[in-house]
Amino acid sequence: MKVSLETRDLSKVPADLVAVPLFQRADGAKGRWLSGAAAALDKRLDGVIATALESGDFKGRRNDSLVLYPSGDGAPRRVLLLGLGEAKAIDLDALRLLAGRAVRAGNDKGCRKIALLVPPLRKPRPAESAQALAEGGVLASYRYGAYKPRAKDAPRETEQLSLVYEKLPQPAAGRAGAKRGVVLAESQNVARELSDMPGNALPPAELGRCAQKVGREAGVRVKVMNTAELKRRKMGGILAVGGGSAREPRLIVMEHDPKRKGAPTVALVGKGITFDSGGISIKPATGMEEMKHDMGGAAAVVGALRAAALLKLPVRVVGVIAAAENLPSGTAYRPGDIVTTSSGKTIEILNTDAEGRVVLADALHYARTEFKPEAIVDLATLTGACMIALGPWATGLFSNSERLSDHLRVAGEATGEIAWPLPLFEEHREQMRSRVADLRNAGGREAGASTAAGFLAAFVGETPWAHLDIAGSGWVRKATPIQPVGATGVGVRLLLEALTVWKAGKPV
Ligand code: BES
Ligand code: MN
Ligand code: ZN
Repeated sequence: MKVSLETRDLSKVPADLVAVPLFQRADGAKGRWLSGAAAALDKRLDGVIATALESGDFKGRRNDSLVLYPSGDGAPRRVLLLGLGEAKAIDLDALRLLAGRAVRAGNDKGCRKIALLVPPLRKPRPAESAQALAEGGVLASYRYGAYKPRAKDAPRETEQLSLVYEKLPQPAAGRAGAKRGVVLAESQNVARELSDMPGNALPPAELGRCAQKVGREAGVRVKVMNTAELKRRKMGGILAVGGGSAREPRLIVMEHDPKRKGAPTVALVGKGITFDSGGISIKPATGMEEMKHDMGGAAAVVGALRAAALLKLPVRVVGVIAAAENLPSGTAYRPGDIVTTSSGKTIEILNTDAEGRVVLADALHYARTEFKPEAIVDLATLTGACMIALGPWATGLFSNSERLSDHLRVAGEATGEIAWPLPLFEEHREQMRSRVADLRNAGGREAGASTAAGFLAAFVGETPWAHLDIAGSGWVRKATPIQPVGATGVGVRLLLEALTVWKAGKPV
């Protein structure tokens, strides 16, 4: 979908649907509700909008909407009134949703071209609001359709979203913002697509090929290591977890190199369990299908590298993905096993369902020793405990660096992908010590998300590191206009914000 910014008169913008957002009016308010371009449009349409408003069927509340079918020469086919609620409640999230509501409605009706009248805003600023509108439009256009293509006679999908401004104070900044928004949202959609793919279609090797394809298109170097290479590197964690599946594990390494002297290196590490049955410690059947999303962290890393390259970030960004399928079989790893990871540290396996941390042990060690990054951020659908703590509304944030943690929290707030700090105490690390090995992979139910982070901390040394547990935020069971049921692609926008404002070699 293309997104453009228009300052032309609304009547000159071709559209099968014109979306007109309206603020809610105070009770009993008198006088004009429509102003500026909306009033001009209404005049051209012989007052259909005013008539509709007089009916009282549309009140401008946050979720109100009404479709009108005006007649007459040169009238757009459809006018969609969208309630905005109160003006003071309009933030970037509301703008994403606004564009998303327009695109969803238009898409469902087979509208090829949609025009959205941009409401006059004092806050947020033009570049940011254009970015948010573009993001919302592109996010709303996503649907996972690989196995259920739209019927041949189904209406065509929306091709164009025109954001129509009455006044555009900073056109260049606005256009740059929209362009950035399109890249970010498309990259998030790439992450969603990977995460929505069923386990049978996305074994570790295929995840590697997908990363390569994205890399080719965006200009990211990608290397995929097979079992022989993993053995050579003594990556006992990934090999143990992947050992139960006939479809072998992989380590996927992606690199965006701005070729700029002194550019800081940031490593992104993703959990890529293409399906998590729990292994020998098998999960209950109910809901197990959701574990096809257990590579949501890996998907976000792929999406983030795509965006970093397309946006030409002046930071060297490397992605390290540990990809494996966790299945029970005669070759599966078992409770009681002790595995030796590439760092030399040994792990006593108490529960084969705590597999994410076991593969991440090797990936984190690789990222740290191979690239010597100034910071590592990992993303993982790691613990049911984090999902219970935060639900789908926030990502759990754990770190050994207050500075990095603050940086990511602020980036989350700026992008609407909330990252909520959770504790990582010495006690959480201690909880993961084993009597017979350096570590054990399960530390009991108490503070399960924090003890998982405490386990990971053992593999990053002194490197500033943050762990984003996206177990709750990685997929949703309830749709919104910009988010269908299924994968969210969470993390892409947050990471790009954090990397964009990365300053002077240090997270600010
Ligand atoms: N992938 C799961 C975590 C998960 C569970 C994500 C539910 C989203 C929803 C992970 O591999 C896992 O099974 N973790 C276990 C760890 C436990 C055995 C220590 C968990 O959280 O129950
Ligand atoms: Mn598991
Ligand atoms: Zn898992």
